[in-house]
Amino acid sequence: MTKKIAVVPGDGIGPEVIDAGMRVLEQVNDARKLGLTFTHFGWNADEYLKTGISMPPGAMEMIRDEYAAVYLGAFGDPRVPDMKHAADILLGMRFQLDLYVNYRPVKLLDERLSPLKGKGAKDIDFVIFRENTEGAYVGMGGIFKKGTQDEIAVQEDVSTRRGVERIIRYAFEFAQKTGRKSVCMSDKNNVMRFGGDLWLRTFEEVARDYPQLEHFHMFVDALTMQMVRAPEMFDVIVTNNMFGDIVTDLGAALQGGLGVAASGNIHPGRVSLFEPIHGSAPKYAGKDVANPAGAILTAAMMLDYLGHADEAKAIERAVADAIQAGETTNDLGGSLGTKAAGEAIARRLAL
Ligand code: IPM
Ligand code: MN
Repeated sequence: MTKKIAVVPGDGIGPEVIDAGMRVLEQVNDARKLGLTFTHFGWNADEYLKTGISMPPGAMEMIRDEYAAVYLGAFGDPRVPDMKHAADILLGMRFQLDLYVNYRPVKLLDERLSPLKGKGAKDIDFVIFRENTEGAYVGMGGIFKKGTQDEIAVQEDVSTRRGVERIIRYAFEFAQKTGRKSVCMSDKNNVMRFGGDLWLRTFEEVARDYPQLEHFHMFVDALTMQMVRAPEMFDVIVTNNMFGDIVTDLGAALQGGLGVAASGNIHPGRVSLFEPIHGSAPKYAGKDVANPAGAILTAAMMLDYLGHADEAKAIERAVADAIQAGETTNDLGGSLGTKAAGEAIARRLAL
């Protein structure tokens, strides 16, 4: 059975890291006869500036109806200061495809990459689930009396019972399936009383269905401190869209930097989107310096989602081996370019 993958390299360093990821994906697809077919889409800032269109009409429906997954590079270009195309494409897919799980593992692949004194691979190994379809990202609100001294801006933070419950339940299910001990829900319910009330009640109710798992709540300011001070206390963290955005950058830094962090935007059983956490880094674009490891680990995560867990593990091992051998880009202390670092990983693939 063939499955279609939409490849969207995007802007900046996106195309280079996606090239490296595609090399690995094609190697695995051929060796293991996975039957994946890849279609490239050039939706990016260049295209948007030329045509004024982020994604052609019908494209979202085509992705939803015909594709199994989207493999995406990065968006962001200084020539589009309001990031309109990025919002249309990336946030557009998250919302319109209802990709409610933002899955961002934090796992230190090599002791030498730890930014924390005395903390190693056994300490930095947890998963963050970020709610991905609600919160401050819904774009509700407005500006009143714009440009005057009396100007007022309102930006709403939306939580629905259904939306909160499904991400919390997903986090508990994941913890149970993967043998993790605990789930931590993080928010700011000492200040954001209404949303916080809904999150905490829902968390406690869902937790009752998982009596064998520990569960605890932490204010998000305290969470950032504990992630740095005692990362070993976390197994699974679940939080809202905005707090999740912030703490996952911190998570990426704990695992060796944005260059190695992978993420999935998932709706279980439906087309889902996989992207490295790093941005488009325009100043590094076209220079063969970006780290392809995040994009390659993202490819592994996508294969795992598509039911190819063995192949995903083989890729993760190859990445860890290359990093441990020092065959990496600059950001991890190596001296290879994007292409060569990708090849070093591809060479180590044991299929
Ligand atoms: C991320 C990014 C996006 C977000 C931006 C590019 C809109 O920071 O995926 O974490 O805020 O979600
Ligand atoms: Mn972010």
